[in-house]
Amino acid sequence: MRTQVGIIGAGPAGLMLAHLLQRAGIESVVLEKHTRDYIERRVRAGVLEQSTVDLLNDAGLGERMRREGMVHHGIQLRFDGAGHRIDFSELTGGRGITVYGQQEVVKDLVRARLDAGGAIHFSVDEVGLQGLDTQRPRISYMLHGEAHELECDFVAGCDGFHGVSRQAIPADKLTTFERTYPFAWLGILAQAAPAHDELIYAYGDRGFALFSMRSPQVTRLYLQVAPEERLDDWSDDRVWQELHARLETHDGWRVNEGSVLEKSVTGMRSSVVEPMQHGRLFLAGDAAHIVPPTGAKGMNLAMNDVLVLARGLIEHFESGSDAALQRYSQTCLRRVWRAEHFSWWMTSMLHRFPADDSFQQRLQRSQLEYVVRSRAASASLAENYVGLPASWGTEP
Ligand code: APR
Ligand code: PHB
Repeated sequence: MRTQVGIIGAGPAGLMLAHLLQRAGIESVVLEKHTRDYIERRVRAGVLEQSTVDLLNDAGLGERMRREGMVHHGIQLRFDGAGHRIDFSELTGGRGITVYGQQEVVKDLVRARLDAGGAIHFSVDEVGLQGLDTQRPRISYMLHGEAHELECDFVAGCDGFHGVSRQAIPADKLTTFERTYPFAWLGILAQAAPAHDELIYAYGDRGFALFSMRSPQVTRLYLQVAPEERLDDWSDDRVWQELHARLETHDGWRVNEGSVLEKSVTGMRSSVVEPMQHGRLFLAGDAAHIVPPTGAKGMNLAMNDVLVLARGLIEHFESGSDAALQRYSQTCLRRVWRAEHFSWWMTSMLHRFPADDSFQQRLQRSQLEYVVRSRAASASLAENYVGLPASWGTEP
């Protein structure tokens, strides 16, 4: 079997790449290790920057997002029992974010791909990459117990942090930059009307908490917990009690409780590999970089990578020039490192670090006060949160 671009992974990165290529008349095959049902149900993050919203709209994928997504023009930072709004609109010249679950983006992308007659092979196993240094790289895999091989012009490694693509690159060709954090997030999805109309990031002695939402009927909430935390130790009652304690305000505001639809623990890390390319393999999204979720950047970075990659591949197939492909890694990494810094900074400002002494905590408190009281500091948070303009990281 042959295709122009072999894409490993049907997350936002792989599916969006397939879509952008298909619109330009470039053929691809997507190989996904899980089932369609699994990838469409998996609850992940849910904040889209304006540039991601624009990309979905421009690619003809925005219809349901425009109907069901919730446009927000600010967030709240909460500490000492009081909330402080960061007004994105006012601070960034009218920009905002759209709250729309990653799994909804994935559903829209899968539908568009299948409607266009494109190939996604689900439940593939034992994916392996060969000949990355040649003009004809190959992907081997098992499907329904049968061995297959796909010969490609290019391979896109969009298989997330635990995928096989990054590992197929010789270790001496990659440099990894990493931070781990001494905590994780316990997330719940609850059948409960959001008690506030914007996201709330809360700092306090008991640890960080985040209030978010998915729809007018569904609230999404997170608690900072120990990295080795066991879900079994967190009954729904205990989760609600802790959320009330961490999010409460002096004026008696409380989250609305409801039945818990999903509960999971996610580790927190920062990681980047450089370069994001080896021979004819290009890494995109979580396969190349991870951010802690506090900055809400993961899916947005994945989308930016594949926009840059699609442009490079289109240039290759249309004009034979590899100039844009050669700049792929360098171009993406500018936005990646900005998001890495912002995500690390938000994480450091808002979480309780077990090893911190009272000096460090006073610094954190001072930083929070500065961010909510100084226009310059709030504007910096706002500009990064809504996302730098599309040109930041798509142009050399
Ligand atoms: N073979 C085939 N598919 C694989 C393999 C493999 N060996 N390993 C992983 N996959 C699939 C996963 O099942 C998943 O569907 O690759 C896909 C990768 O998707 P994501 O993890 O969603 O990564 P990406 O598309 O880069 O999107 C980044 O995901 O983790 C969040 O916060 C992150 O929002 C960001 C987004
Ligand atoms: C979410 O809604 O899942 C969410 C929102 C903001 C974040 C992280 C996750 O920073």
